[in-house]
Formats: sequence, structure tokens, C-alpha cells
Amino acid sequence: MQNLKTASLEVKQNQLWILCQQSLPQQQNWLPAHTVEQLVHHIHTLSVRGAPLIGLSASLLLALLAESGQSPQQLAIALDTLRASRPTAVNLMNNLDQMKLALAEPDIVSALSKEALRLVEEDKQLCERIANAGAALVKPGSRLLTHCNTGGLATAGVGTALGVIQRAFSQGKVNHVWVGETRPLLQGGRLTAWELGELGIPYQLICDSMAASLMGKKQVDAIWVGADRIAANGDVANKIGTYSLAVLAHHHQIPFYVAAPGTTLDTHCPSGDAIPIEQRAAREVMGVAGSFGEVQWAPEHARVYNPAFDVTPAELISGWVLDTGVVTPAQVQAGAFQPK
Ligand code: MRU
Repeated sequence: MQNLKTASLEVKQNQLWILCQQSLPQQQNWLPAHTVEQLVHHIHTLSVRGAPLIGLSASLLLALLAESGQSPQQLAIALDTLRASRPTAVNLMNNLDQMKLALAEPDIVSALSKEALRLVEEDKQLCERIANAGAALVKPGSRLLTHCNTGGLATAGVGTALGVIQRAFSQGKVNHVWVGETRPLLQGGRLTAWELGELGIPYQLICDSMAASLMGKKQVDAIWVGADRIAANGDVANKIGTYSLAVLAHHHQIPFYVAAPGTTLDTHCPSGDAIPIEQRAAREVMGVAGSFGEVQWAPEHARVYNPAFDVTPAELISGWVLDTGVVTPAQVQAGAFQPK
């Protein structure tokens, strides 16, 4: 396969490398993702994370394994193992469904490689279209709030919600970005803060619990988040804490936008109730770990509830900003996301 590089993925001499998102921003470590076991480990530890990136990394690895001489049977097992590595973000399943079609072609090596590269290129284009469609909704002088990380690190392109913010900033319409730290794994505090700093976009980091008071003080003009899965009725699964922001936005009459590519749509999932929500290890809530070390503050045997995602009901969402354009609540109610 040809060499390629995105913000957090690299294919070099037919091997996949990933930028470890667990040790950012203090360290920029590129880790090998040469085998299914390695990539699944990176996905479990969130060294590879973000809905689009998970799907793209799995697709690239599958194509590279085909090039290395793995048999169709081995590739089919690899595909199923990768597909099961994280349950909530549907981009992984959607991308691997495309790869499965390529696995049925006569020249598997060429078909898988072509498809994986196409998915990467497509993701870049989808991000561009989302950024343009979303930026048109941003009013001049905006102070925007975002959650988790939806930037270049999580995609092959400029990102989704963060791509919108970046595009609107370049159009002179963003005065300030509030970044929710995103407990428990701090994707906002570690990754979004870092990306905004690199882009020169003015931001302030807040604890998740500070969002309500900021909205009460009229310091937030709109909220922009990404998505891991959008159900047919418009309900959205995204990083835990997204739902609280949507409720707060509704109370304070602040627009709440979801930005995502078509690969995040699951038209066969009727509503948020049917979206599988990943439960994660207790230690993530009991303390924190990263390149800075590990600390635990909770009592040794504390009982913990740790869902990685929550579901925001469609009625709290002001607009779904997709690569195909802005979908309004009325369009969602009329069946815009129902299976065709
Ligand atoms: O657990 P993560 O870090 O993979 O969760 C990521 C999110 O919830 C993002 O908002 C979503 O995947 C969109 S990334 C463009």
C-alpha cells in the first residue's frame, strides 16, 4: 500500500502506526499497530479513539494484513475481531461492512487496499463538507462550547464538531471556545485543548461541572459536539456528559448542534434505546492515568458506574450537521434518517 499520513495514523512501508492519544499532549509517541492484537489493544486503551478513526484504522490494518499474505479465512477472523473491539461507534461496523464486500472480490489484496484508501480519502472529504455546512450556522462573535475530542486526531481530516469550529474561526466568527475536560478520560482537557492551542484558536478549559454556570451567565452562544452513532429517530450516542450539556442548552435556550459524517448514521437502529453503550473499567473513575503517571483517589474497593457514552434524545438537538448538509428537527421527524 502507498504510504499515507494523517494527524494520528501513518502507513509506512506497509505497516500501520498510530499516534498514542493516551500520552498526548505531553508526549507524541507513535506506536506499532501491525497486528490485530496490537490494534485491538490500542482501541481498548483509547490510544486509537474517536468514531471515524477507529473504523479507518481497522480498515487500513485489514488491507495491510492482506498484503502481508494472510488467507481469506484469517482476514475474515481479523475483520470480526476488529468489528467487536468497541461497541458504540457505528463507523467501525459501517467501514468494516464495506471492507467485507471487498473481501468477496477476486483480487482481495488490491480490493481491500483500494477500499481502505478510499475510506480514508472519503473521511477527509466528509470532514470538509461538515466544516463548511456547520460554519454557516455559526454567528459572528460566537462563544462556543464543545465536549470530548472531535478534531483531526479523531478523523482523517479536519474533524467534525472541531472542524466546524476551526472553519468558523477562520471565517472570523469565533471569539472563544469553552472546552469541557470530559471526565473520566479527559479527551477535552488533553486532546481538544492541545489541538485548539496548535490551531491558535482562543479557548479556556473548564471542568464538566462548570458548564451550567457559564450558560447561566450567558457566556455560551452554541454547543457543538460529535457523535458515535445517530439512530433513525435522531437520538445521538456520544461521549458521556453530552446529554447533560443538551439538557442545559435546552433550559438556557442555547442551540445544540451535532456534527457527524454519514458513516455515523445507523438507520437500522430505531432509537437511542437500541444503541449499545460501552461500559468501561472502574479504575478510570477511581483516578486518572496518562503519560504524567497514574493516581487513584477513590477508596480501594469503591463501587463504580462507568458508561463511556450517553444518549441525547432527538428533541434536545437543534440540528444534525452532516456531510450532506444540515438536517433540521422537522426533517428528522419526517423520517430523514429512516432506512430508505
Ligand atoms: O471514547 P472516545 O474518545 O472514542 O469518544 C469519542 C467521542 O465521543 C467523539 O465525540 C465521537 O467519537 C466523535 S469523533 C469525531
